[in-house]
Amino acid sequence: MIQIEKLRKVYRGRGREVTAVDGVDLTVAEGEVFGVLGRSGAGKSTLLRCVNLLERPDEGRVVVGGRDLLALRGGELRRARQGIGMIHQHFGLLASRTVAGNVAFPLEVMGVPRAERAGRVAELLDLVGLTEHAKAYPARISGGQKQRVGIARALAGRPKVLLSDEATSALDPETTASILELLRDLNRRLGLTILLITHEMEVVKRICDSAAVMREGRFTESGPVPALLARPGSELARGLFPLPPAEPRDGTTLVEVTFTGGATDEPFVSALARKYALDVNILGGAVETVGGERVGRLQLELPGDPAQNAAQLAFLRESGLAVEVRNPGRVDDPAQAGPVQEDAR
Ligand SMILES: Nc1ncnc2c1ncn2[C@@H]1O[C@H](COP(=O)(O)OP(=O)(O)OP(=O)(O)O)[C@@H](O)[C@H]1O
Ligand SMILES: [Mg+2]
Repeated sequence: MIQIEKLRKVYRGRGREVTAVDGVDLTVAEGEVFGVLGRSGAGKSTLLRCVNLLERPDEGRVVVGGRDLLALRGGELRRARQGIGMIHQHFGLLASRTVAGNVAFPLEVMGVPRAERAGRVAELLDLVGLTEHAKAYPARISGGQKQRVGIARALAGRPKVLLSDEATSALDPETTASILELLRDLNRRLGLTILLITHEMEVVKRICDSAAVMREGRFTESGPVPALLARPGSELARGLFPLPPAEPRDGTTLVEVTFTGGATDEPFVSALARKYALDVNILGGAVETVGGERVGRLQLELPGDPAQNAAQLAFLRESGLAVEVRNPGRVDDPAQAGPVQEDAR
């Protein structure tokens, strides 16, 4: 649905150059919710703005719904962009218009006849649960309701794709949850493909099928969320399951295991302890539900150095767990591993 190849965007000015997006490849399948996670300045907004050509990339290809956007001009480009809705952190509502008036605005711009407009506005307000607030002005509604107006407005042109730039960053956790729920619902009911950017792990956890971590204009990892979480060295996994700092004591092996799906029901720690007559020390851990699937991470300390624990580590791997040894100098030390790359589904 969205296909981006080797995208580059450089901002130039006053003898200074900032490469905001530095060769990003991204595929978002139809009906998928894809999240791009990254710190401030990573280039997330620039990337998003290149998808609907609010920003013109310096290099690369942007294909949305099978159309190469950079090859389109005039009316064709306008129509293609109508198929891409966008929502923002600060809503951007017109204060002088009611909720209904704000939703009607893009319809007016698109030239939808007045007679059709009222029906379409009612339909859109119903979709986002704002029918009762149609006549309210933005100053009189909550942040969550404002974002609902933003979403209704973005859907006015019946887009197939919705771009979301930190849509929940200005909202409290409970309101964030309800907006994410709405986006998930629209994704399912309308088959809407959603590309969202965020700096909140919670957003990825709640609604993303796939995700990427962006840093200094590049993706450092990307793929289906459960697969990323199960990958040793994944920044996403570390963010979602913050574990105590890894400082192995002498003569011990410090190991982090990630388990998904069926492996969450297996008592692998006690099985390991019994099989090898080991005193396994659990240092930390958490289990989360991600995309309806249980994913967990545990930090374990085993007596003996990693070489002495080769059979034990193999046992854990054979139990279907992702195993990461945190003793320094190991080949599977994430600091020495390259970027994680998983094919998007
Ligand atoms: N219009 C612009 N002109 C010049 N530099 C820009 C412009 N927009 C963004 N930049 C620079 O490009 C880089 C990426 O910015 P961008 O806004 O895409 O990051 P971001 O990941 O969205 O950050 P945030 O989380 O703070 O919104 C930054 O170094 C920023 O200063
Ligand atoms: Mg931004």
